[in-house]
Amino acid sequence: MTRVLILFAHPALHRSRINAALIEAVQGMEGVTFRDLYEEYPNLNIDFETEQELLLEHDIIVWQHPFYWYSAPAILKEWLDVVLEYGFAYGEGGTRLAGKKVMSALTTGGPAEAYQRGGYNHYTLKELLAPFDQTARLCGMEYLEPFVIQNVRQLTNEEVQKWAALYRQRVLELRNL
Ligand SMILES: Cc1cc2nc3c(=O)[nH]c(=O)nc-3n(C[C@H](O)[C@H](O)[C@H](O)COP(=O)(O)O)c2cc1C
Repeated sequence: MTRVLILFAHPALHRSRINAALIEAVQGMEGVTFRDLYEEYPNLNIDFETEQELLLEHDIIVWQHPFYWYSAPAILKEWLDVVLEYGFAYGEGGTRLAGKKVMSALTTGGPAEAYQRGGYNHYTLKELLAPFDQTARLCGMEYLEPFVIQNVRQLTNEEVQKWAALYRQRVLELRNL
């Protein structure tokens, strides 16, 4: 069975609505490791060796986070900086992650129509996610179609629950890839 590692980055989980529902939906799934990066590293002092070991033990990585300033909360950037080392993830001899897959799972406050030319956010989400896509590519990993939920503040409680079920479904699908 494919092993999935969900790396979750939310600096204020106690205030979260949508991500809190999403993570609840993927707890305790066989073959799925859930890791809350802010809980593990409240001071952002990431243990890169532990993180690299975890990467090696899994086939598919999920970067789950709310969209913050057209990117991810800071700990995910720190994770990329310290874990994806030269000689491990890229560069000479850096082939340890080659063949794995990565998926972003993200939530945005802005609605889908804001993410286009002439829209409030000018760029498409796909364009804004290029650094994640290219990071995966450089490491020889396939960047899968992101799981995206937009306009999250407007969601009803029923819609939140529907999205949570859809997320669980997507993670199940990843596990069967
Ligand atoms: C610091 C910060 C930056 C944000 N930047 C963006 C942004 O660039 N684009 C956007 O659509 N929403 C942005 N938002 C809204 C969040 O994406 C939204 O609050 C989050 O997805 C809700 O998830 P939660 O209920 O799990 O907290 C931002 C929110 C915060 C607090």
